[in-house]
Amino acid sequence: MMQVKNPGGKHIYLVGFMGSGKSTIGPRLAEELGVPFIDLDEAIEKEQETTISDIFRDRGETYFRKLETRHLNSVSTEPSPRVIAVGGGAFTVAENRRIIRRSGYSVWLDVSLADAADRCRSTGRPLAGDRRRFEELFRDRRKHYEKADIRIHVAGRSPEELARRIQQKLRDTNLPAT
Ligand code: S3P
Repeated sequence: MMQVKNPGGKHIYLVGFMGSGKSTIGPRLAEELGVPFIDLDEAIEKEQETTISDIFRDRGETYFRKLETRHLNSVSTEPSPRVIAVGGGAFTVAENRRIIRRSGYSVWLDVSLADAADRCRSTGRPLAGDRRRFEELFRDRRKHYEKADIRIHVAGRSPEELARRIQQKLRDTNLPAT
C-alpha cells in the first residue's frame, strides 16, 4: 500500500460530471489505498430500496438532493478513511462542499463533454436524456468542480493510471491538514 498524504485519516471524495469515471476509478483507488469504497448513489438506492431514476421520477430532483445531502453527511462521519464517489450534482451544492471539505479531500475527475456524453448514452441517467440540458449542466457545473482540491484530466487514461495519478497528486499537493 502506498502512503498517501492523508493527515488525520481523511476521506477522499471523487467528484465530477456524470460519466467522468468516479464509480470505476473509485474502487481501484480504494483497493490500492487499502480502504473501503462507498458509492453514494448506491448507498441511497440501497437505503431507499429503489433506483435513482425512480426517485427522480416519483419524488423529483429536490427530494433526491435532500437524500443526497443526508447520506453524504452520514458517510462523512465514518471514523476511518474511505474513498467516496458522489453523484455529478453533489459538489454543486454549497452545503455538500462544506461537508466534503471538513471531512476529506475532493478530487475532480475532469472529463470532456464529448466523452461524458458518449459514456452516458443509453444509461438511463435521469439528467442525461436531454442533450441540451446535459450540455448546460456540463458548462454550469465546472465553476463548482473547480473548487475541488485536486483536478485530474481523465482523457486517454486507464482507471489504473488515474488511480496512480490521484495518489501522486494527493502526495504532491500541499493540502490542509484540517
Ligand atoms: C446526477 C448524477 C448521477 C446521480 C443522479 C444525478 C447529476 O450520478 O447522482 O442521476 O446531477 O449529475 P453520476 O454522476 O454517478 O452519474
